[in-house]
Amino acid sequence: MRTDRAEDMEISLASVETPAAVLDVHRVRANAARAAAYLKEHGLTWRPHVKTHKSRRVTSLQLEAGAVGVTVATLREAEVMSTVCDDILLAYPPVGEAKLRRLLSLSSRVRLTVALDDPGVLRELGRAAALRERRVGVLVEVDAGMRRVGVQGIPAAVSMARLAANTPGVEYRGVLHYPGHIRDTGGPEGERALGELGRTVEELLDRLGSAGLTPEVVSGGSTPTLWRSHELGGLTEVRSGTVIFNDRDTRSLGAAAPEGLAFSVLATVVSTAVPGRAVIDAGSKALAREPLRGPGEGLGELLDRPEVTVVSMSEEHGILDLSESDWRPQVGDRVQVVPNHVCVCVNLQDRFLAVEGERVEAWEIEARGRGPFSGEPLV
Ligand SMILES: Cc1ncc(COP(=O)(O)O)c(C=O)c1O
Repeated sequence: MRTDRAEDMEISLASVETPAAVLDVHRVRANAARAAAYLKEHGLTWRPHVKTHKSRRVTSLQLEAGAVGVTVATLREAEVMSTVCDDILLAYPPVGEAKLRRLLSLSSRVRLTVALDDPGVLRELGRAAALRERRVGVLVEVDAGMRRVGVQGIPAAVSMARLAANTPGVEYRGVLHYPGHIRDTGGPEGERALGELGRTVEELLDRLGSAGLTPEVVSGGSTPTLWRSHELGGLTEVRSGTVIFNDRDTRSLGAAAPEGLAFSVLATVVSTAVPGRAVIDAGSKALAREPLRGPGEGLGELLDRPEVTVVSMSEEHGILDLSESDWRPQVGDRVQVVPNHVCVCVNLQDRFLAVEGERVEAWEIEARGRGPFSGEPLV
């Protein structure tokens, strides 16, 4: 029988049209196993943020490796992951009726927790949850230095925790912070920031304990700080997401080894006309134009020739700088590019080509986009 369904067709990396997102499944599994083993060794649980991959296959792989549940930022991510995971933390404030409706319509099988920092959002969540007779846990988000979201200061965090404990419809479960301001944990600045974070969390736990509000959950973590989590007293769970694939950022920050790079964009050389350069068919619409957070320059690098970087890009053109390499590509050659920031890059892809040995499978990235997973129109 003839079929045109993408998943039924054999995929060959040599002939697939580029640009295409490629996963090295062996490395993905190794990254998951390493993170899970490290956290288990230190009595911490792993609740990976799915924003990095937005894929049910990858979530299932993380759960098999030992993750206790997932973290999501969007309602679409929550809806998609609720089909494979029954413990979800929404680490994003659910503001407005439309989001609350979607949140509370998630399968009742899902143990739901929401992080928030605003009394009004807490009240509305409690009201909506009570109306639906649904148990929803709350983590009070505390700003640990990033200055993005989060209650400011320890007294305000204790007051917010008390409010959560006394708000009908919700269950106070603990506190959450995101140390997104800490990047390079190797240098003196990183040491100082980690020390300060540890002290802030310890003092917060002390004050919550004295107020009779001892948290069951203390949720923290990022990929740059992942391997130092055991030094941050009081944490119970870690939400590191990028670690599952890694990228040029996490490698340049020292949080990932080159063999931890599990994601790349397969691209084809389309021009070598300009001396010292080669142009590939992956530009900002395939790689994303994200600044490198660690030391170094450029917008991406080749997986097996890291000295070749993407120096500039147009929407569909990526410009490779050959000045540090003796490699001289021909038009038609294929390369694999590691993006600076994998999460944004994944969000631009149609699917993953998941490579495991000789096998290449198409894995869907179902949680991209904003609309309901059911396919109903956004209203
Ligand atoms: C709230 C929150 N938690 C966890 C993470 C995961 O951090 P990372 O991607 O560094 O692992 C993020 C990343 O943006 C985040 O915003």
